[in-house]
Amino acid sequence: MHQFHNEPPNNRLQPTPRSNAAESIVTNVKIPPMKTVIYYYTGTGNSLWTSRFLAAELGNATLYPMSLMMNGDAIVEAEAIGLIFPVHMWGVPSLVLNFLQKMQKDPGRYYFAVAVNAGQVSRTLIQLQNHMASLGLRLSLGIDIVLPSNYIPWGGPGSAEKLAKLYLAARGKIKEVAPRIAGKQIAPMEKGPLWQRILFTAIYKMTFNMIPKMDGSFWVDEKCNGCGICEKVCPVGNIVMTAEKPTWLHRCEQCLACIQWCPKEAIQYGKKTPNYDRYHHPEVTVKDVIGDVKVRVDVVNIQKIEG
Ligand SMILES: Cc1cc2nc3c(=O)[nH]c(=O)nc-3n(C[C@H](O)[C@H](O)[C@H](O)COP(=O)(O)O)c2cc1C
Ligand code: SF4
Ligand code: SF4
Repeated sequence: MHQFHNEPPNNRLQPTPRSNAAESIVTNVKIPPMKTVIYYYTGTGNSLWTSRFLAAELGNATLYPMSLMMNGDAIVEAEAIGLIFPVHMWGVPSLVLNFLQKMQKDPGRYYFAVAVNAGQVSRTLIQLQNHMASLGLRLSLGIDIVLPSNYIPWGGPGSAEKLAKLYLAARGKIKEVAPRIAGKQIAPMEKGPLWQRILFTAIYKMTFNMIPKMDGSFWVDEKCNGCGICEKVCPVGNIVMTAEKPTWLHRCEQCLACIQWCPKEAIQYGKKTPNYDRYHHPEVTVKDVIGDVKVRVDVVNIQKIEG
């Protein structure tokens, strides 16, 4: 859990009302920022970094990993509740859908979401809004944040220049979005073009139930030293160490934390990844991600929901 109690950029100064003209001193009283809870899910740190940056902009925000499946005590006090997660296969990851089932729901709160992705948000936020509506919740604001791709089966994240531009643009967008969240803005969900929403939503639906077994394409090369980090970073306990080597249990979320955080780059996926650069957000450490896993509860046995 990460706490942020920074002063928000939009903190207003309110004059105390004067009871009569004889009082000449006006006292400035700061209105504290609204209490915000952010639930996040991350594989390689982009969504955790986004959550932290946004929390610092908002002030008075508390971060929880979704995998904690907390009992909702924090929600009771929060005015606004945010969901921040990566886009997976052009839609909402199953871990997020499972979390929503378990989360304490309060229709009276202001809900917002940030879909962190590599440029193809597609219909993810509309899917989430519809899903939340089916649970009796209104998603008021859905924001698309683009950061480097961690989808290593298709290649590395790109050049340092490309990454620097993405980080800069993401910072700018989060700064622009924070006052809108603080003002509880209601707006249409951000989305990709129509062709993307039609084509990729079909692919999302086709692949959704195949994801748990896609870990069959992981393998370990001779560089593995048995450190066990891959087992520790997995958010759903899908890796066990057998004879000091990882074994995948076929209930994978495809977050790619294991392959991306392996310090020896010993985990491969298919044939091409030995040639591809690994990626994680430069301001997030493996300890941050392992720290999240320590407080997780077992989400792997919760029934999957079709998106
Ligand atoms: C299985 C998987 C599927 C992905 N699908 C998409 C996608 O449909 N659209 C997109 O823009 N990015 C996609 N990505 C890229 C991630 O959304 C992006 O890199 C994100 O910033 C990762 O966030 P994280 O570091 O918090 O895990 C995918 C990544 C993974 C691992
Ligand atoms: S993190 Fe890499 S080196 Fe460590 S046990 Fe896993 S595969 Fe082996
Ligand atoms: S096995 Fe690897 S890709 Fe699958 S959920 Fe665990 S860390 Fe993520």
